[in-house]
Amino acid sequence: MSREIFVREARREDKDAVLSFCSKTWEWGDYIPYVWDKWLNDPKAKVFVGLINDKPVGITCIRQLKPKEFWLSGARTHPEHRRKGVITAITMKCLEYAKEKEAKTVRLVTESTNIPAQKALEKFGFKPTATFLEMKKEELSQQANLHAQWAEKENLNEIWKFLEKSECFNKCSRLYTKLFTWISLEKQDLKQFLENQKTIIFKEKKEIAGITLIDDEVKSEWQENAIQTCYIDGNPKAITNMIKFLENHCTKNAITKIFAYTPDYKFIPTLLQQNGFEWDKTKLIIYEKQIN
Ligand SMILES: CC(C)(COP(=O)(O)OP(=O)(O)OC[C@H]1O[C@@H](n2cnc3c(N)ncnc32)[C@H](O)[C@@H]1OP(=O)(O)O)[C@@H](O)C(=O)NCCC(=O)NCCS
Repeated sequence: MSREIFVREARREDKDAVLSFCSKTWEWGDYIPYVWDKWLNDPKAKVFVGLINDKPVGITCIRQLKPKEFWLSGARTHPEHRRKGVITAITMKCLEYAKEKEAKTVRLVTESTNIPAQKALEKFGFKPTATFLEMKKEELSQQANLHAQWAEKENLNEIWKFLEKSECFNKCSRLYTKLFTWISLEKQDLKQFLENQKTIIFKEKKEIAGITLIDDEVKSEWQENAIQTCYIDGNPKAITNMIKFLENHCTKNAITKIFAYTPDYKFIPTLLQQNGFEWDKTKLIIYEKQIN
């Protein structure tokens, strides 16, 4: 790592310098301009900036999701300063901060096409722990199949039992996603989904055969007239029924788009595609590092 890189907490006055290299990261642009002020105002978040000759050339945000669980996002290095150890220095600072805060786990997501990020993460000791896909459907219509239902608080124990036994749930490291952040799903979180009427279930012979968790914060946070799935699991019949049930919910409530986030598990992505969901072939890989 180069000695000339200095890392400190971001300051409001860094904004212009940071956005000058964080606005056109990809063909479609970047989301950093939309979140910068929010990050700096978020008491659960810290943004670290890497400087060369006193000029910001890299950033990363670390946010506390649960007492022992932290999330990294927005790792960026100025294109003219890549491969100089900038993100290495910033990540080390983030991990130091997580350790000070007594974190146990630090996670982040990257796309399967982002080789530089994956190489860097492997070098920093992060391990891939789950793979999800982001699928979308926009032309929503009323569906005929309606054998799914909203779950009630009373269903908590049976749904939790279903999840504990689920191969899909365990293969995706018991994570769910909300607003492109992956979080451990504990019984307490499931209870919250149930209390907020955000859980769809499908039953067969009175037993839970599928569960879908949803969230509508994408509406306010991403300014999309949309809803998202946070987790989907179940047998093929359950998946098809739950997704049709969700589509009906959207058409009834004038919601025009579904972002379906699903574990990359066996038949689930194919079933979603058969039900009109589009996928751009990029996988979302969640990496994690245990802090000790
Ligand atoms: C990914 C990114 C943040 C890396 O930043 P960086 O400051 O250039 O990274 P570092 O110099 O600290 O490199 C650390 C390690 O990452 C790996 N790496 C970085 N860029 C790489 C590349 N283009 N190809 C292969 N490996 C790469 C290497 O292992 C490197 O160590 P080495 O130089 O000793 O071989 C930077 O390329 C970037 O801003 N990309 C666009 C935004 C992005 O993809 N962010 C990540 C989202 S998850």
